Amino acid sequence: MPNSHSRSTSLRLDGRLPADVAQAVSLLQQGGIGGIPTETVYGLAADAFQPRAVARVFEAKQRPAFDPLIVHLPDPAWLPRVAREVSSLARQLAGRFWPGPLTLVLPRQTTVPDLVTSGLDSVAVRIPAHPLARELIAQVGSPLAAPSANLFGRISPTTVQHVLDQLEDRIDFVLDGGPCRVGVESTVLQVEPEGLRLLRPGGTTVEEITAVFPEVAWLDPLASPGHNLPQVAPGLLTQHYAPRTPLELVDPANLGDRVRDWSGSHPHTQLGLLRWQKTPATRDEPAGTNTYTEWLTTTGDWKGAAARLFACLRRLDESQSELILAERVPETGLGRAINDRLRRAAARTE
Ligand code: TXA
Ligand code: MG
Repeated sequence: MPNSHSRSTSLRLDGRLPADVAQAVSLLQQGGIGGIPTETVYGLAADAFQPRAVARVFEAKQRPAFDPLIVHLPDPAWLPRVAREVSSLARQLAGRFWPGPLTLVLPRQTTVPDLVTSGLDSVAVRIPAHPLARELIAQVGSPLAAPSANLFGRISPTTVQHVLDQLEDRIDFVLDGGPCRVGVESTVLQVEPEGLRLLRPGGTTVEEITAVFPEVAWLDPLASPGHNLPQVAPGLLTQHYAPRTPLELVDPANLGDRVRDWSGSHPHTQLGLLRWQKTPATRDEPAGTNTYTEWLTTTGDWKGAAARLFACLRRLDESQSELILAERVPETGLGRAINDRLRRAAARTE
């Protein structure tokens, strides 16, 4: 029986090897917990129907129990196991965007443990686009509850090494499925009879959804009836996805001034910069300062930028900079998810 106290480091399993996948399956069936690849970020998975295993996920992440988990399925045919009702709009969204980075919040089946949903009457569900994730869940034979595989409030992992850096001595295994293709978490949508509430912008963009469902009404996520905000979507908690280094979100037009101000008052310390697009025009500006810079893109490609975001933040965090200035990116498409993560990183109060 896997137990957090009997193992000091986690098994590193290779998703290309059937014997390694079988070992991950068997650990999960026995109530173990482990890092698994998805197309968005690595998840910290447990069998959703084993409350003791789910409790270990909360413990390993140091995550407050009022923050519910996403349940991952391999196939829409499994929906009735976790959702008691799937509206026609939810069905259409699932048909169009699954497998993929979209999470639907649906009425919950009472058999789903309270710990998974934090006692809410709803359950968050998605089908990941990573084939290894789906194969793993199908072999386990039970839905997997999986938050991102990072310590609570910290940067989400997009490689197996990121998972090990934060959780190595707290989990039973990591299953390597390569770097995550999307790089930001799934979009979380509450599906209601009157329309959709965007609880978290993510890998499926609002533009993609409205292109397919132009008629759909977008409801105010802050006005969800009968709930206060942390209960509806604790992912909306302002401080989240934070590096240890303080981070400030700056409009591109003010970046030069902010760098000059800060460098003037901190002449001997390094400043970290997270920049949007590297072009001949932006490359050398702002100049003449002790800076460490990460660029999200050279071509303006949103997908590549989103996929790099968390790795760039990690390198900045390790760059010995006193402060990270992050340039706000255009608020469109995946830019919404990128700005959302940067805003939360900046909201860090410690
Ligand atoms: O891409 C992703 O979504 C990744 C991968 C591993 O699938 N998972 C992920 O999980 O980001 P996590 O736990 O870090 O974020 C789950 C989000 C949180 O914002 C949580 O509050 C929200 O989903 N959520 C979960 N259940 C909910 C519910 N019943 N009602 C509203 N929001 C819910
Ligand atoms: Mg998370």
